[in-house]
Amino acid sequence: PPLHTLINTYDFESVAAQTLSQKTYAFYSSAATNLVTRDANRSIYDRIWFRPRMLRNVRHVDTRTSMLGEKVEVPFFVSPAAMARLSHPDGEKGIARACKEWGVAQCISTNAAFPMQEITSSVPSNTIPFFFQLYINKDRSASEALLRDAEKNNIKGIWFTIDGPVQGKREGDERVKVEATTNAKAAISGAAAQNDKRGGGMGRTMGGYIDPTFNWEDVAWLRRSTKLPLVAKGVMTAEDAVLAVKYGLDGIVISNHGGRNLDTSPPSLLTLMEIRKHHPEVFQHLEVFVDGGVRRGTDIIKALCLGAKAVGMGRPFLYSLAYGQEGVEHFIDIMKDEMETTMRLLGITDLSQCHPRYLNVCDVEHL
Ligand code: FNR
Repeated sequence: PPLHTLINTYDFESVAAQTLSQKTYAFYSSAATNLVTRDANRSIYDRIWFRPRMLRNVRHVDTRTSMLGEKVEVPFFVSPAAMARLSHPDGEKGIARACKEWGVAQCISTNAAFPMQEITSSVPSNTIPFFFQLYINKDRSASEALLRDAEKNNIKGIWFTIDGPVQGKREGDERVKVEATTNAKAAISGAAAQNDKRGGGMGRTMGGYIDPTFNWEDVAWLRRSTKLPLVAKGVMTAEDAVLAVKYGLDGIVISNHGGRNLDTSPPSLLTLMEIRKHHPEVFQHLEVFVDGGVRRGTDIIKALCLGAKAVGMGRPFLYSLAYGQEGVEHFIDIMKDEMETTMRLLGITDLSQCHPRYLNVCDVEHL
């Protein structure tokens, strides 16, 4: 269908389901075992109510903010997701060009389909902030090499993923046989993808190089290995948020990998509320980002009212990329417009006004 007929995230998803190869759609959409966390990431947003305030002048709204000190036009960003090229030949470069037009930050995956430098150089330098997601390699020198690359390529922060010492059991992905490993091999991780005995979905074949021994003590090594801001991606409890502060990190991403790793791990918004409740001081020490299940402008504003600095989306960017750069731009436009409408109807005009007083969380408080 023509791009202009798509009016929300779900439209992009259904087109992707029809037009991408079965294997690609299975890889993108799949999540761990019963898909409980994947689906709860989204549905929990529907259990939080707004407390809109009336009769305020809302003609002008300002959606600008910053992430780790870098200016962005909107408080949403591209979460790192592997192999965008399966959606469109431009892959992560197409996403980057769209982000440049709209001032959106992009986090590049270790398993991106193009080398980091090709992605960052696909837009003029210093137009949008790029972050780099790092999986810690069993061979630490490989990770150190990626850190050097990141510094050379003007990356603004390293987001090391902590929620996947191993890959989760993603049955949708495993049911579709991996025939071609070429794309996975092109990943900048250099992971040699192999089919594995148990059916080997794309996720598992790509993740073999990840070091499951990596632990909090090793974070000191990471801290020594780069001057770039460090963000732990995959925090699911208040306790780990506190540890992130203790180890001197600059930020955390509350995330469960889009429900792809441990099923029935908590929906991200619930973790956000847990940190607010038990360790509100965390928000003073580092920036808190959230991803998983964000599909509407209302979702973004809710997460911000609960203390998130910005929110990420994974699958929606991959799906909109099926239309190339133009599709991603249209998607960003839709999300920004939904968010501005939400702000006006809620009675706020800039993001610093986001506050829990605009929410009624009684439906989820007991969870
Ligand atoms: C991911 N995600 C992910 N995370 C990460 O740290 N490194 C990675 O390489 C990937 N790869 C990846 C591939 C695909 C196909 C998906 C869908 C996700 C997780 C991603 O960064 C993010 O946490 C989730 O996608 C957020 O959930 P939503 O927005 O997809 O619901």
